[in-house]
Amino acid sequence: MSDTPLTDAIRRYRSAVSSRLHVPSHGGGPGSPALEELFGDLLSWDVTEQPELDDLSHPDGPIAEAQAAAAAFFGAAEAFYLTGGATLGLQAAVFAALAGGGALLAARDSHRSLLGPVLATGAEIVLLDPRRDPGSGASLGPSADDVVRALDAAPDIRAILVNYPSYLGVAPDLAGIADAAHERGVLVIADAAHGAHFGLDPRLPRPALELGADFAVLGMHKTGGALTQSGMLLLGERAAPRSASAGLAVGLLGTSSPSYLLLVSIEQAVHDMRHAMPGRLARAIDAAAGVRGPARVEVTAPQDPLRVAFRSRVAQEIVESLALAGIRGEYVDGDTALYCVPFGAQAADLERLRQEVALLPAPPPAAEMPLRSPARIGPRGALLAGRRTVHLGEAEGWIAADIVAPVPPGIPVLWPGERITRETARYLASEASQGRRIMGVDHEQVWVVAE
Ligand SMILES: Cc1ncc(COP(=O)(O)O)c(C=O)c1O
Repeated sequence: MSDTPLTDAIRRYRSAVSSRLHVPSHGGGPGSPALEELFGDLLSWDVTEQPELDDLSHPDGPIAEAQAAAAAFFGAAEAFYLTGGATLGLQAAVFAALAGGGALLAARDSHRSLLGPVLATGAEIVLLDPRRDPGSGASLGPSADDVVRALDAAPDIRAILVNYPSYLGVAPDLAGIADAAHERGVLVIADAAHGAHFGLDPRLPRPALELGADFAVLGMHKTGGALTQSGMLLLGERAAPRSASAGLAVGLLGTSSPSYLLLVSIEQAVHDMRHAMPGRLARAIDAAAGVRGPARVEVTAPQDPLRVAFRSRVAQEIVESLALAGIRGEYVDGDTALYCVPFGAQAADLERLRQEVALLPAPPPAAEMPLRSPARIGPRGALLAGRRTVHLGEAEGWIAADIVAPVPPGIPVLWPGERITRETARYLASEASQGRRIMGVDHEQVWVVAE
């Protein structure tokens, strides 16, 4: 049996159908010549729910087969293809894990997409501060002991969400966290937006489900080789009884016209993971190994060897000079830069980056961040309330209406609903005055609940 049933079905449809009298209006090409010229044959793959092409919201044909094949490959009880990125997977996982009630324990540096299900379900979020790298302040995720303490202090928690890994490629002790959670009847959601490739090479961390996660959200476009905006939600055995709730959330929160280009790209990425990708990954990991900066400039030691992050007071200049040479990284902000090595990278592609990183002078240690702000009305109350902006200099005492996170390190100092303390307001004002980017702050104005 073919392991690409959806691709095969679209191929058959393309040869059998000569006139597409159905949406989308480009009709596979002739309706939009400009797009056809740009995208060529690709446009004829942009199909929609025709009988032989199945329907993502009620799959019983090639999409169902493709999802079953992905579940078998990833060792999952069930797999959902997603055309709304990892964002949609996180929303569906949180929704399903909390079906029936209870609170969510979430690492403070969780992605903001979990605010969607918080709005929908009314669930309470208990935030867990991550451990931080002493030099750079980067998040190392929570430890299993932190999780035990948090769960014992709040017995109504029914699910926990952790990044596995972080943006910088740091993977926390998921097995220890899962053991602690399961002993207390709590489900574990792994945000693997940056970890779809885990397990495909022995030098990469093990995949989240294998370590005990009950839900794993894969960013198929970030690290799985598929097109941008694709993702996958995997359910382990413990989460399988919640599959109907997960499917409901994917259907309700996602589009009713999922892109077949994305669906096919997910199927092809899984096919590639079975066959050629491990070899390419192995070569890329070898190539990246030569680029690791000296310890003095590493942001932190990542478990994902394909993430090269460095801190230096000249980071911006280095990134600009590499850009002039045609080499673009993932981001640079202040003294921190991140390069993501793609699966196809060769040592020669990375040589210039290696040379630059090897000579970098180190930056001073990161400033202490205040992470404790009393929660006043919870994220849902803050998101539903009226909002206004106030200047950081006058922000003390107001309640944050959005996530506020200096980047780097990207760990929110405020979640919606938290009271802005004097210490937090001063820290934010000082970071802003040094020209640092702060998510949730624009021109030194921060969004707060209009009281
Ligand atoms: C840790 C993490 N989780 C989830 C997401 C959301 O992923 P997507 O952009 O695929 O919706 C991101 C996006 O950057 C992320 O960094």
